Amino acid sequence: MVGIMKQHEFVVVANRLPVNAHKDEDGSTTFERAPGGLVSALAPMMSTEGGAWVGWAGAPDEEFAPFNDEGIDMIPVSLTQTEVETYYEGFSNTTLWPLYHDVIVAPEYHREWWTTYRAVNERFAHATSQVAAHGATVWVHDYQLQLVPNMLREARPDLKIGFFLHIPFPPRELFGQLSWREDILRGLLGADLIGFQRSWDADNFLRSVRQFSGLGTRGMVVNTGAENRSVRAGVFPISLDSREFNTLARSRSVLQRAKQIRADLGNPEKVLLGVDRLDYTKGIRHRLKAYGELFEEDHLKAGEVAMVQVASPSREKVEEYIHLRSEVEETVGRINGDYGELGQPVIHYLHQSYPWEEMAAMYRAADVMLVTSLRDGMNLVAKEYVAARGDLDGALILSEFTGAADELTQALQVNPHDIEKMKSTILYALTMDREERRTRMRAMRRRVLTNDVQHWANTFLRTLTQQAGEQ
Ligand code: G6P
Repeated sequence: MVGIMKQHEFVVVANRLPVNAHKDEDGSTTFERAPGGLVSALAPMMSTEGGAWVGWAGAPDEEFAPFNDEGIDMIPVSLTQTEVETYYEGFSNTTLWPLYHDVIVAPEYHREWWTTYRAVNERFAHATSQVAAHGATVWVHDYQLQLVPNMLREARPDLKIGFFLHIPFPPRELFGQLSWREDILRGLLGADLIGFQRSWDADNFLRSVRQFSGLGTRGMVVNTGAENRSVRAGVFPISLDSREFNTLARSRSVLQRAKQIRADLGNPEKVLLGVDRLDYTKGIRHRLKAYGELFEEDHLKAGEVAMVQVASPSREKVEEYIHLRSEVEETVGRINGDYGELGQPVIHYLHQSYPWEEMAAMYRAADVMLVTSLRDGMNLVAKEYVAARGDLDGALILSEFTGAADELTQALQVNPHDIEKMKSTILYALTMDREERRTRMRAMRRRVLTNDVQHWANTFLRTLTQQAGEQ
């Protein structure tokens, strides 16, 4: 099979394929397009350019043959149940994820998790080298695959290799906790171009390179020493297909659905909305605390105000996520118990994922959008809300600890740890006059509609071609 595999000029490598495998009752498998930041970001470009995507189909202990889905050649990489536990739930999501998000929860370090992380990265690199044509462009994504660039460089020096980190890169004082910090840096430095969401991340990375790899940097460029190759670090804030989302959010069916949502909520005067993966980085508990206190202090009243909190299921086998879920659900229950009325809960909590149409309708139905992450690489939800508000209405409360805060300076920015400030900001957002809402939204929309995902991908890939050309 491998020997006859088609060669591609453009290959994306990410932990997940943009599809999920479902086993049907008769034993056959169907693949469904999966929602998610990276997927919605790259899928449009991939299908127009006919590239290959190397990734895991999301089901442990399953081997799938390569297949084509809506114009993209999918190259599945399989993971055993043990690898899912040690590479994915373990090293990726219990070591790196909390370490890279300011140790909001304590990362765990286990040598056997690292061993599997390396072995799985090796498998991804091998699968990629089988499908990449001579001189092809390979774009590796995110913290699960930081060793792949150098593994590929060693096997295939002909390739142009780009890497993009979707999550923050931590300050060197935190990154330094990792026993394998030099291996990770060496892995990343196999790329020609390493992209980050914000300049803060790129600076953190360059400082770690100087301190832990002992390599020299000049501006944004690292010289790899003996190899005498230069690697560029760059800042490329990710976005969404904002024009398409804008169009969808204007459609008659979405607008009708938005009306229906408000009616289903009992037509309160104001609707607040939170949309997150159920993750401890998102500051859901901080948001609920602020919201609950506003009822306690009689600033808000059931029936007049309602909040919808969509918390989509995520990493459900990882202990901290199990713990977070019970805490959030207990808090929602308590707030509704204390301040709700018959038929008028003050929080509508939905532990589910929804298609884009339904999300667009929720954004349209919401007067105030709450994005209160404690640390977030970008936060595309904030940009989706802005892209959906072609009516120039709606107020966005946005944590300053998100990548999106760099661009959405007209949002009401908050420090989610400052509960009092968050409370006054919520009240301000609920009473903001129409003119101010329009002015802020107009400015944010200009940004989001111009800097869309196509712009992000084009800028990254153009910089990669230039950088690789200079070698
Ligand atoms: C973040 C990460 C992605 C990841 C996504 C969903 O956005 O940057 O790499 O795919 O979360 O998480 P999951 O663990 O379900 O892939």
